[in-house]
Amino acid sequence: MSTWTPMHGQPYQPVPYHPARMPVDESLHTAATLRERMMERRTVRAFSTEPVPEQLVVDAIAVAGTAPSGAHQQPWTFVLVTDPEVRAKIRAAAENEEKLSYDGRLGEEWLNALRPLGTDMHKPHLTDAPYLIIVFQQRFYLDEDGEQHKHYYVDESVGIAVGMLLTALHLSGLAALIHTPSPMRFLSEVLARPRNEKAFAVIPVGYPAEDATVPDLVRKSLDQVLVRV
Ligand SMILES: Cc1cc2nc3c(=O)[nH]c(=O)nc-3n(C[C@H](O)[C@H](O)[C@H](O)COP(=O)(O)O)c2cc1C
Repeated sequence: MSTWTPMHGQPYQPVPYHPARMPVDESLHTAATLRERMMERRTVRAFSTEPVPEQLVVDAIAVAGTAPSGAHQQPWTFVLVTDPEVRAKIRAAAENEEKLSYDGRLGEEWLNALRPLGTDMHKPHLTDAPYLIIVFQQRFYLDEDGEQHKHYYVDESVGIAVGMLLTALHLSGLAALIHTPSPMRFLSEVLARPRNEKAFAVIPVGYPAEDATVPDLVRKSLDQVLVRV
């Protein structure tokens, strides 16, 4: 049997798991603080060009890599782009697609959904933010003989990993945007990714620009999203 994740095809081998038990008071305090900190997270679309310690971004990617995944196949690749030439290429290609989208390809309903966000075809964050993390889904595993092997729950797994990435970036004091130019095929070409990988999102990371603004959005209340049975 060919193997494509460290554990694939291995027999079940349980090991003890005894994480340190947190006192309840400390748990409650941690949860309340985290809730407050996460309420402050906003998608930023105007970035400062100020440099950011790369370790912060690398640590956040490492956090994303601890995400649960279908059959533990970890079907993700995070491409960290700093090269200004590559970023310029990505911006040009993305703005090309976005122009077609905003000029009508999206349709009236989608454009109406986007209206409160104030977005348009211009994507300066792609060249201003010091880092772009391009997240790719590994739709399947491609072995050395070019044979394909199935990955399970790829969308869900990568979505969870990206959620953890955004949380880690925010808690480390950084700003991010999850940008999904549609279609995103150009990213595979510009970054020369293998054919089992499909772009999932472009995530510029940095500090907000001094004059950054965000749309005045209302989040659903807990009562609207929590159902107790
Ligand atoms: C899957 C996904 C795709 C998104 N795509 C874009 C995008 O292409 N461009 C953009 O400006 N924002 C994008 N966003 C950001 C959302 O617009 C933003 O999260 C939402 O308006 C809520 O704002 P907040 O993150 O500040 O709470 C995307 C978010 C998600 C989860």
